Amino acid sequence: MPAPSVTVRVPAKVNVQLAVGGPRPDGFHDLANVFLAVGMYDHVTATPADALTISCAGPGAEDVPLDAGNLAARAAALLAARHGRRPDVHLHIDKDIPVAGGMAGGSADAAAALLACDTLWGTATPRDELLALCAELGSDVPFSMVGGAALGRGRGERLTPLPVSGTFHWVFALADGGLSTPAVYRECDRLRGDRPVPEPEAAPALLAALRDGDAARLATAVANDLQPAALSLRPALADTLAAGALAGALAGLVSGSGPTCAFLTDGAESAAALAAALVAGGTCRAARATTGPVPGATTLESHA
Ligand code: C5P
Repeated sequence: MPAPSVTVRVPAKVNVQLAVGGPRPDGFHDLANVFLAVGMYDHVTATPADALTISCAGPGAEDVPLDAGNLAARAAALLAARHGRRPDVHLHIDKDIPVAGGMAGGSADAAAALLACDTLWGTATPRDELLALCAELGSDVPFSMVGGAALGRGRGERLTPLPVSGTFHWVFALADGGLSTPAVYRECDRLRGDRPVPEPEAAPALLAALRDGDAARLATAVANDLQPAALSLRPALADTLAAGALAGALAGLVSGSGPTCAFLTDGAESAAALAAALVAGGTCRAARATTGPVPGATTLESHA
C-alpha cells in the first residue's frame, strides 16, 4: 500500500493586460487583470504528518520560506480551521515556477495546497467556498485554482472566465533573483506621483484577440502598468526586452510585477528559436518556451 498522499499540479500565469488603478484605502489597487495560465508548473504533494510541515525542492527553493508564513502552509491552516480539524499535513512543493518572478508561483502553491488538503482530508469543500478561501489567501490565488483565461477585477480576485480560441506560444525569460510585489506597486505609485489615474479597464481589442486566437492582434494590445516600475527597480530588464524584440518576438512585456519577461511568438518553432536566442544573448538566466491557456490546479495522483 503506498503512503496516503495527494499530488496537485498547478500552472504559472502571465498577465496579458494588467491595468492598475490608484491605491485604495486598504493598500491594494483596483485592477483590470487579464490572466492567462501557461504551461509551467509547480507540484504540491500533501501527506499526513504529526504537524503542519513544509519542504521545497527545485530552482530557487532556498528562497522559499518553510515556516507558517509560507502561503501554502497558510492555505492548509485556513482550510483546517474552516473544517474544525488540525492541519496535520506535510506539504512538499516541487518548484518550477520562478520564485518571486511575477508568475504567481506562491499563489499557485496556495491553490494547490488547498486542493491537495481538501482531497487528502475528504473535506469536500464546495467549489465556491474553495474560491472564497483562495481570495482570502491572496489576489492571484483564485486564478491559480481556475486557470484558463480570466478577467480579474477588484484586487484581481473577482474572476470572469474569458473565451480563448486555440493556443498562444510564449517564451519566458527568467531572471536571477526576484522582485517584491509590494515594492513594485509602491514604485508604480511613486512614479505616477500626483497624476490622475484612470479607472482600470480591460481593452476590448485585447479580449477580441484572445477570443479569436489571433497572436498578431494580441501582440499589439498586451500592456502592463507595472512594467515601468519593474524597469525602474531592475533597469537590466530593458536589455532583456530589447533582446526579445531583436530576436523577432511579436511582443514582449514584463510578467506581472516581474522580473520574468514574457514574449509572444507566432508558433512553437519561433518560440524555440527565440528561447535559444535569448539564452545565447546572455540577458537572462534561462528561457522557457511554453503555451497557454492551460487548466488550473489539477489533482494528479491520489493515494488517500
Ligand atoms: O494579494 P497579494 O497578497 O498577493 O498581494 C501582495 C501585495 O501586492 C499586496 O500586499 C499589495 O502590496 C500588492 N497588491 C496591490 N494591489 C493588488 C494586488 C496586490 O497593491 N490588486
